[in-house]
Amino acid sequence: MVYAPSDLAHPYTEEQARGRLLYKSNGCIYCHSQFVRPQDWGIGNTSSPGDYYYDKPHLLGTERTGPDLAQIGGARPSQWDILHHRSPRSVSPGSIMPNFKFLTEQDMLDINAYIEGLGNHTLETQDFQPLVPGTYAGAQNPYGSVIANANESDEGRVAYASLINESKVLFAQRCLPCHGASGNGQGIYARHVNTHPANLNERISNFPGEDYHFWRVMEGVPGTAMPPWKISLTEDTVWKIASYERTFVDGVVRVISGDFSDSEAEDFGNKGIVSPVIRDTQNYSEGLKLFNLFCAQCHGADGQGDGPASMYISPDPSNLTETSDDFTMQGQWFWKVSEGVETTNMVPWKYVISENERWKIIYYIQSNFSAPGVYDEKWRS
Ligand code: HEC
Ligand code: HEC
Ligand code: HEC
Repeated sequence: MVYAPSDLAHPYTEEQARGRLLYKSNGCIYCHSQFVRPQDWGIGNTSSPGDYYYDKPHLLGTERTGPDLAQIGGARPSQWDILHHRSPRSVSPGSIMPNFKFLTEQDMLDINAYIEGLGNHTLETQDFQPLVPGTYAGAQNPYGSVIANANESDEGRVAYASLINESKVLFAQRCLPCHGASGNGQGIYARHVNTHPANLNERISNFPGEDYHFWRVMEGVPGTAMPPWKISLTEDTVWKIASYERTFVDGVVRVISGDFSDSEAEDFGNKGIVSPVIRDTQNYSEGLKLFNLFCAQCHGADGQGDGPASMYISPDPSNLTETSDDFTMQGQWFWKVSEGVETTNMVPWKYVISENERWKIIYYIQSNFSAPGVYDEKWRS
């Protein structure tokens, strides 16, 4: 059967036809696909057979080590594309795309003409159509009433606190490595996967319904690193985690005052726990690195509680320069960082970071964010 050319199809110019051959001969197809599926977000209109009318053979590809390119034309200025082909990492930090600087100037222009012609970027992109399949359509969060009644009664507060504190741990163990502690998609594995993990703060606020959310987590996002969690988690667990993820949009209802965890931290501090970490420059710089990796997104590089992800978080992250003046015992720090803070987005880091590394982070915070002069006083047991 022959399909008529679609709105996206167009005959290639000579330059584009040469670029297409170079695309093939340089193996771009090993990493890039050219088909937009119904479940792909925001990369174009779902592909149809007529899109490939002029492609003989088609270059659909099967791998998405890099993004799908079916409708990439017009996405960026040509200069960016050419620079990117010559030196991917200079414009796309951490990219694993090889450089093609061995190609001639003319080859570069030809490839660029081909890339720029992919798709018809004068067409408007379809609105995203929620496709929640029948078995998930209309699914309701069994914890919806716990969230709604968070602050209604003592019973409600206890139920809410235990939901959040339990689901926070599940999130930290399963989702935080990719999506980040604040859900901003900047977890430590983010740069190692092809499609960037979703920024949950923004994504979830646009979800058409909680059934969509549940379906996505259960079934994963095909073609990306987001696995179908139904393989490893029960439906109940997925609903708990989804409830926690809602806090990136709605904020956490703070139903327990800080006092409880403060006194626990103090009890722990009173045990006279001493940091096993030696105060030297190596541990300091390792602490700095770990702090920037895990903590700075919320607490800010200067510890002031104003990191880039703090805008998504409610209640706000603490200003650690002030904490430095309040906490006098090393054990207090260790307890807080390890156990997190109840009914806030501060996770118990003991599930994510090794004990020794937590101590290094504490060494860095305590020495860097304390007022000058009190440093030695603070670094006691
Ligand atoms: C080893 C795998 C690999 C190969 C081979 C490869 N790429 Fe890529 N490409 C990537 C990855 C990964 C990214 C995403 C990171 C980045 O922007 O560099 C990417 C990004 C791109 C983008 C930007 C797409 C977007 O949505 O941001 C374009 C355009 C592109 N590649 C074109 C090409 C062309 C043309 C070739 C062949 C000359 C090629 N790539 C070969 C892996 C590859
Ligand atoms: C290995 C990395 C990785 C892990 C671990 C991971 N995700 Fe994802 N997640 C992704 C990627 C990649 C996407 C797709 C981004 C896209 O569609 O643009 C995604 C997308 C999502 C989306 C948005 C789906 C949509 O349709 O927009 C949600 C919600 C989500 N993940 C929740 C979770 C939850 C809950 C967990 C833990 C149970 C989790 N993720 C664990 C990588 C990961
Ligand atoms: C998702 C954002 C987020 C991340 C990432 C984060 N925190 Fe927090 N942190 C918070 C919030 C929110 C609080 C509680 C604020 C409150 O009690 O009102 C907090 C509280 C704290 C406290 C207690 C301060 C006090 O005065 O009681 C310490 C200590 C702390 N964080 C250290 C860390 C360290 C160390 C890391 C990295 C390993 C980290 N945080 C990562 C959000 C975050």
